[in-house]
Order: sequence, then C-alpha cells, then structure tokens
Amino acid sequence: MTFPKNFLWGGATAANQCEGAWDVDGKGDSINDHNRAGSRTAGTRRTFDLTIDTENYYYPSHTGIDFYHHYKEDIALFAEMGFKVYRLSIAWTRIFPNGDEETPNEAGLQFYDDVFDELAKYGIEPLVTISHFELPFHLGKKYDGFLDKRTIGFYERYATTLFERYKNKVKYWLTFNEINFGTMEHGLRISGLFNREYTETEQYQALHNVFLASAKAVSAGHKINPDFQIGCMLAYITMYPKTCRPEDVLKTQQINDKFNYFCGDVQVKGKYPYFMKRYFEKNNINVEITEEDQQILQAGTVDYYTFSYYMTTCIADDLDQRDDKSGGNLFGGVSNEYLPSSDWGWQIDPIGLRYTLNQIYSRYEVPLMVVENGLGAFDEVAADGSISDDYRIDYFKQHIIEMDKAIEDGVDLIGYTPWGCIDLISAGTGEMSKRYGFIYVDRDDEGNGTLARSRKKSFYWYKQVIESNGENLSN
Ligand code: BG6
Repeated sequence: MTFPKNFLWGGATAANQCEGAWDVDGKGDSINDHNRAGSRTAGTRRTFDLTIDTENYYYPSHTGIDFYHHYKEDIALFAEMGFKVYRLSIAWTRIFPNGDEETPNEAGLQFYDDVFDELAKYGIEPLVTISHFELPFHLGKKYDGFLDKRTIGFYERYATTLFERYKNKVKYWLTFNEINFGTMEHGLRISGLFNREYTETEQYQALHNVFLASAKAVSAGHKINPDFQIGCMLAYITMYPKTCRPEDVLKTQQINDKFNYFCGDVQVKGKYPYFMKRYFEKNNINVEITEEDQQILQAGTVDYYTFSYYMTTCIADDLDQRDDKSGGNLFGGVSNEYLPSSDWGWQIDPIGLRYTLNQIYSRYEVPLMVVENGLGAFDEVAADGSISDDYRIDYFKQHIIEMDKAIEDGVDLIGYTPWGCIDLISAGTGEMSKRYGFIYVDRDDEGNGTLARSRKKSFYWYKQVIESNGENLSN
C-alpha cells in the first residue's frame, strides 16, 4: 500500500443534514429548511416550500440527527475510529440568520468554536465547507440569491468572519459544495434561485457571481492566514461513451466539459474555458464578465481540488430519447451493463475512481482530496443490536484499493473523507433510511426514533483501515 504517512483519513457531513436545531440560538432558516422529504419507494425527490408548514409536514433538516446537541458523543466516536480529519459545514444561517446582517450571531460562532475545540482534543483536523446547500432563505427571497451582486458581498463578509474567528483552529476550507450543480437544477442548491423561472443567462450570471464570491473568499482567506488551504469542491460524475461510435464519444466530451470541467477550470485555472465562452455565444447567453471580474478569478484560484465520487454513468448521442437511463446524483445518463447499482440506482464503479483521479490530476496538477464517497443503503439491525454492513465494507474496500493504485500512478491524493460517516438525512430525498454511516442513528424517515448512536461492523473495519494507514483491508 502506498498511502503517504500523513494521509488524511476521516469522514464528512453537512450541517443541514445532521445538526438539526434549525431555529435554536438565533439560527435563521436556510433554503434547505424549506425542503420536505421525498421517498425512494414513492420515487419522489424533495419538495421545496416557500412557507414552512410544520403543522402539516415534516422537514428533515429541522431535527437532522441532532448533532447540535450530540456533537461531543459523535466526535468521540470519530476519534475512536482514528479520524485524522473531519469534514463538516458551517450553517451560514447560524452566523448570519438572514444573510445580510452587518454583525454576526455570537451564539452561532460559539457553537463552532466548541466543535473545533472538541476536535482539537482528539487531534482531529477540521475541514470546513463554507456553503453546503445552506444559503439563507432570505437571500434567495429578497435578492434572488447570487443573481444579485450584493450577495457576493454577503458571502464575503460571512467567509471573512469565519476566517478571522477560526484562523488558529481551521486550516482546510472549501468555498462551495458541489459548485457544478450550479449548472443544473436551475441553480437552487448553489445560487439560491427559486422565486420564479430564470433564463439561462440569469442562471449562468448567478453562477458567475458564485465564482466571484469564491475567488474573493480565497484571496481574503490567504491574507488573513497565509497557511490556509482553500479548495474547490465538485460533484464529479465520470462519463463513459455508451459505445465507441464517434457520435457517442463526442457527445460524452461535450457533456463532460460542461458538467465536470467548466467549474474546476474557473476555480483552479482562474479563467473560463474556451468551450463555455463559445457555448454562451452560440446560445445568446449574455453573462457579464468584466475585466475586473477576470482579475478577481485569476487572483483567487484554489490551493487544492476536492470532489465527491459515488458513481459513473454512460452518455449516448441520443441521450434524451433513451429508455435505458440510469439513476444518479442529480445527473443520471444511460446505464452501464458492466456495473452493479445501489438500491437507489447509482452505478458503483471503483475502477472509475482511479480513472477519475488520474483524469483530474492530469488536468490540474494540484493536490486532490476525495471528500465524499460511500454507499447509500438500507441497514438492518439484528435482534442483538448489531449491524452487519458487509456490502458497505466491500464498497469502501474496492474504492480504497483503487485510490491506492492512483497514488501509485503518481496522483497527489492527500485525503479521503467518506460521506455520512454517521447516518444522516439524504440530500436528494430527505430519507433517513438511505444510510451511509459507520455509525448507526436510531431515526426513521418520519423523524421517529431515540437518536441513539451505535457502531456498525464497518465502524470497526474502518478503524483498522486507518490504524494500518490503508494496509489492512480485510474483514
Ligand atoms: C452529494 C452532497 O451530492 O451527495 C451530499 O454533497 C449528499 O450533501 C450526497 O448527501 C449523497 O446524496 P444523497 O442524495 O444520497 O444524500
């Protein structure tokens, strides 16, 4: 095994999926607090409500797994597994409840001080996502989110507040989670566009403003503490041509460029790639990108590149007409007959991770981190309370083997934080039963349960993996 000595093994969560306490200690409502749950069995995703009706509906983020009140217990369990790093996000609305206030909410800042202090007790390095689908609802409602340039300033103030406050406690930062989802789904999760239908120009203008906010934060952060490592984060969905027909190959390249490469190019190289400029021209998309904007992007390039990796997909020239579509993390594509799928239809592809790591590294040549990876699955609790999640162990084992090979290929991979290291609510469906964790949480899809934590079989397995620095993968 070739994992470097200081390899950052750990796990990842996001505030809106685990903290709960959605209106406690001055917290405001984020866009995610307006999301009702969906269901796999009913085949529904989440429903976004403009008004919150807790009398009649269940909003999973309001209670999450109540990490807000259980963080000490949860961090102790992470420490028991030997985590070197814990990726968490800060809820913007704990710090600035509406997003446009001049001064931050002290209770919110104090909460994360307490969390970082708890992590420090065990020598666990925090890796902080500044915005993980948690835009203050008010910014969406009043300003159309990032479509309004003032939101760039609100984000900058928020990020700077965090940098100043935690400059001696946090070294690793990520500006926006899965920023490339801003090219899809009308930009709700990333740009906060939900008041009406938006034109493509508006959607790309909002995303451009997100890029500016990110770049400004990177520049500001480096001034506050030159040791900060500030990265980008993308949902990387590796795409293979369905066949070797040149038409399929070309289509794959076009979709891949726009979804996987565009945002990374802006954040790592500091400029728009040629294919997006041409796409804008051809489609009459008039995004205002000034000389000054270009300098901001150039000055605010990231230090490292991180991404989520769950699945791969296939692309065919006639994608829209196909009836062999596959499920996926917002983006489906066409099914691959060589790959198994999870219960939610995500195609499992460990070798694809090695391929992806090489693909990204050859393009950017900056350190990489896999900050999300994992298997969403139903778990069964046996009569004695044990959970034998061998399927999860197998998933991780195969992916770790391929990461190891990628390191041998020469890729500079510095860390790995499997998603939902403790069970939490699903971003896509709001379900609890789509479990990713090494730690089980007693909670169901309707919000019932004791919230008690327990160790799954994979908990002990991952502990041994970390202890042996990736050498011992046996179970
Ligand atoms: C990523 C997100 O898209 O995938 C996470 O960053 C999310 O927030 C994860 O939870 C898994 O998706 P899901 O829909 O299974 O929760």
